[in-house]
Amino acid sequence: MEFEDLQSAKEAIEGAKQNKDLSYIIICDSKDKVFASYKFEEGKKVLKRTRTEKTESFIDQEKLNVLTPIFSQKREIGYLAVGLSLSDLKREVAGNLRITFLVSIIIIILGILIATYLSKILSEPILKLTEAVRRLSSGEAEIKVELETEDEIGILAKAFNQMTDDLKNSREQLIQQEKMASVGQLAAGVAHELNNPLGGILGYSQFALEKITKKPLKDLTGDDIDTYTQYLKDIEHQSQRCKTIVQNLLKFARSSNKVAFDPLDLNSVLKDTLVFIHHQMEMGKVELITNLDQSPLKVMGNSNQLQQVFTNIILNAIQAMPDGGELIISTRKIEKEDNLPERVEIVFADTGCGIPQDNLNKVFEPFFTTKRVGEGTGLGLPVSYGIIKDHKGEILVESQLGKGAKFILWIPVLTIDKRSEAKRVKKVLKNV
Ligand SMILES: Nc1ncnc2c1ncn2[C@@H]1O[C@H](COP(=O)(O)OP(=O)(O)O)[C@@H](O)[C@H]1O
Ligand SMILES: [Mg+2]
Repeated sequence: MEFEDLQSAKEAIEGAKQNKDLSYIIICDSKDKVFASYKFEEGKKVLKRTRTEKTESFIDQEKLNVLTPIFSQKREIGYLAVGLSLSDLKREVAGNLRITFLVSIIIIILGILIATYLSKILSEPILKLTEAVRRLSSGEAEIKVELETEDEIGILAKAFNQMTDDLKNSREQLIQQEKMASVGQLAAGVAHELNNPLGGILGYSQFALEKITKKPLKDLTGDDIDTYTQYLKDIEHQSQRCKTIVQNLLKFARSSNKVAFDPLDLNSVLKDTLVFIHHQMEMGKVELITNLDQSPLKVMGNSNQLQQVFTNIILNAIQAMPDGGELIISTRKIEKEDNLPERVEIVFADTGCGIPQDNLNKVFEPFFTTKRVGEGTGLGLPVSYGIIKDHKGEILVESQLGKGAKFILWIPVLTIDKRSEAKRVKKVLKNV
């Protein structure tokens, strides 16, 4: 036996036993004879291993086994085998794994929540912008995106609002330009239209003057007075006619930046339009047949803009019938249908050249015209389309080549919202 100090070996083992993970300790001499041990049974298997001169370790049955030679004066005098139980460690690792797993799940859930929140913050303005672009492309003019942020999307929204403002302005200019073009086309007709009553006025005043020069006032008889009165009445009547024509034309030509929508009767807007366009039809040998609904056709609209639409369509019809023809204008109220509201229908049917099938869906495109330069701008129908869309209506075209064209307009009937009507009445009463 080469180990002398059994006592200190035992003390060392006693000390090591404090470690709760300790599974066994065996101290052997160089001939594998056990010198001291703790729980020998647990570790006896390791004694069967062929050992090297180095410290080695291996894991076996949830134990970390360490075998280390003991040297004295550079000579191996024995070895120490220590087993450490790994089950606590494993449990700890398992516990840590569970915590790691839970923390990961919490991080993932938080991540998803934050991502959803962020994407909502980011996507909401983008969705707002997308919706605004969709409305713009469907023809709506007054669109504003309410985004006050200072980030890129806020800048984009500002640029978008600026663009819709510019679009609105150029659209108004376009409407005005187009209107002036039709006023130009109407000028000859209006001049003619004014010529007749003016001729009458001139004639009656000449008669009157002639009579007065021939007969002094003191010689005037009752009959004379009656004749003069009749002359003056005719002069008044004809002047009134001139005034109506000029007023209507001025009203039509007036540029209005602020387009106010008021309750109006489509039949009377149509009749007002016909006053200044009437002679144009006569000159073009176009027979006008009107078939208007007996009762007033109430809609919410802008009479000036609607007159522009009617004028465009009527002028197109006159131009489509260079050798004369018939223009039938009819109005009626149509009851509510599945997805269409109760509406007023105005149909302009002519017996002109008609529109080829291929052109039917092009006529509402800006600058599409089949007329010679100077005769057509190609803006009449697109401008009319925009105006009717602003009135929440529809404009449709049907045609058979060589037989004529039919333009059908629908505008929703004015339905009086009871609450806003009550408010209006209250306001009126307050001001009385
Ligand atoms: N009543 C109609 N009959 C035949 N063609 C028509 C009629 N109305 C419009 N069109 C066609 O639609 C085109 C576009 O009309 P519009 O937008 O008013 O522009 P413009 O009258 O300046 O050409 C016309 O050039 C014409 O070819
Ligand atoms: Mg036209």
